[in-house]
Amino acid sequence: MQKAVIFDVFTLFPEVFEPYLHTSIMQRARQREILTVRLHYIRQWTTDRHHVTDDEPYGGGGGMVMKPEPVFAAVEGVLGSPPACPLILLTPQGRVFTQAVARELAGVALRLEDDAQSDEGPRRLALLCGRYEGVDERVRQHLVSDEISIGDYVLTGGELAALVLIDAVVRLIPGVLGDPSGAIDDSHASGLIEYPHFTRPAVFRGWNVPDVLLSGDHARIDRWRREQALLRTWQRRPDLFETALLSEEDREFLASLQGNEGLRLED
Ligand code: ADE
Repeated sequence: MQKAVIFDVFTLFPEVFEPYLHTSIMQRARQREILTVRLHYIRQWTTDRHHVTDDEPYGGGGGMVMKPEPVFAAVEGVLGSPPACPLILLTPQGRVFTQAVARELAGVALRLEDDAQSDEGPRRLALLCGRYEGVDERVRQHLVSDEISIGDYVLTGGELAALVLIDAVVRLIPGVLGDPSGAIDDSHASGLIEYPHFTRPAVFRGWNVPDVLLSGDHARIDRWRREQALLRTWQRRPDLFETALLSEEDREFLASLQGNEGLRLED
């Protein structure tokens, strides 16, 4: 059976999501029902005449804080109490989103066979987008089950972060990408930076595509790509080697780089 993922997104700005979810791979995944995104407008869960969703912080200071009542009402109204699936708050205070976290969330959302939570685990993920200075701490303490940041910078709200998370998780679902190997070769999928890509023409403004890629020798091409991935990672993100899976051959290649600072591999 085709795996599918459902996101319930709680936001004050549902319109932010529409254009992206109607584009390209996201659109196709939704049409094929591999992806379902339900947008829940938190303001609709207010009960006062002015539909107020934020208020001044106790203790003073600048900025506004998202009030707990509409957030609890929206989440519990849609997901029940306690929420029937993990509720992730997008916030710069959360754990940092990486490819490993994307894989973990795809496993949760899909109940993958090899996932420890496969049988009882939730099929859905819910995302809560923070705005203003943040959400009332009681939302964090009593409603949210996880907190994720997409990086060490502060956005005006969690909506873009939620889209980043949805995109990274959805493209891991088998069948979402046209080419099934796409998500495997990606930068970071193997813990390394990806090798360089070239397409036609073979010569552009006098710049040649490396000969090896035109050779038709797939074993050589694979080896070249792996070495390029190792070289790029070594040059740009050596921190990734702490967790990357490396073969004996990879290690030998890396050892050969040590004495060749600044080397550019062509073929
Ligand atoms: N909201 C504001 N900044 C954010 C970030 N870096 N990650 C996730 N949510 C956010």
